[in-house]
Amino acid sequence: MSDPKLPDELLQAIQEKLKAVPRHILAAAAKEISAKYRNQEEKKQSPLLSTKAHHLAYLAVRMPATYAAVVAVLEATAKQMPDLAPNSLADLGAGPGTASFACLETFPSLNQISLYESDPQWIEIGKTLFKNAPAQWSQIDLSHPISLPPNDLTLLSYALGELTYEAADALIASIWKATNQILIVIEPGTPRGFSYIRRAREQLIADGAFLVAPCPHLLPCPMQKPDWCHFATRLPRTEMHLLVKEVDRGFEDEKFSYIVASKTPVSLPYARVLRHPEHHGGHTRLVLCTPGGIKQETYSRKHGACFKQISKVKWGADLTVEPSKQA
Ligand SMILES: C[S@@+](CC[C@H](N)C(=O)[O-])C[C@H]1O[C@@H](n2cnc3c(N)ncnc32)[C@H](O)[C@@H]1O
Repeated sequence: MSDPKLPDELLQAIQEKLKAVPRHILAAAAKEISAKYRNQEEKKQSPLLSTKAHHLAYLAVRMPATYAAVVAVLEATAKQMPDLAPNSLADLGAGPGTASFACLETFPSLNQISLYESDPQWIEIGKTLFKNAPAQWSQIDLSHPISLPPNDLTLLSYALGELTYEAADALIASIWKATNQILIVIEPGTPRGFSYIRRAREQLIADGAFLVAPCPHLLPCPMQKPDWCHFATRLPRTEMHLLVKEVDRGFEDEKFSYIVASKTPVSLPYARVLRHPEHHGGHTRLVLCTPGGIKQETYSRKHGACFKQISKVKWGADLTVEPSKQA
């Protein structure tokens, strides 16, 4: 499993920056940005992060979580496409460059990173965090039509949902055209976040995309409201995270929704595990997304050798083949 924790060098650079602002101000700023993220109406009216303290608080409490979500998605992508080795990346709504840092860890092949961001404060902070990486920053407003140069990998991490649906649709259409290999969109694991992912999925399939993850098929999404498709990753909270967030539990679970689309066909697994499996002594109950829809299946020792694997399976994992056909 890939490391969901920010690389040490980056963590140290962030810790150094946090020294510029007293801890109680960072803690208050962290509370303000959580409240703003919860209130999506406010999101449309004013910039989410306005002060230096907001930006630093984001580095301390949100960047570790969005980084962990990107790592989990890259892991699922690399599992389906083990030979994927992109040379160039476009990171849109890059913030401090969270997703680019995760991509650099996963894909040593990257030799060109283009980060697009509207907020000049993020660009200034980001430039100081990327010391030796081949990173190029551009100030851009993604809510207006854009035309990007082509890149092997295009990534939107927790950024699409900051646009209206109409602007998001237009952005997906234009960046898909500028993607050579893979497009990844990640959103918070909320009904609202998933609504953006679902729209992007439909649009990408209509534009001829092949899916990589999490969907095991290209059929209409079978998820029914009020449910929504999302996953979770557990990340350790660093000391800086605990202090700024004023909490003492040493880990948190970040929930996310995502879609990974490819220009070329990828062999898909039989199913994706949609909930925490219920593991009991002699049987395991799974909720699965399959080409036949969402199914609740119970597996037991009757399913032979494959039951051993199923009894260890986790939320978000894929089942390569149908268990009844495996034994
Ligand atoms: C929640 S942050 C995510 C930052 C980063 N991608 C991450 O995963 O940590 C959303 C980012 O999208 C940027 N953003 C929002 N609206 C934008 C727009 N219209 N054009 C460009 N960037 C935008 C914000 O400034 C912010 O940096």
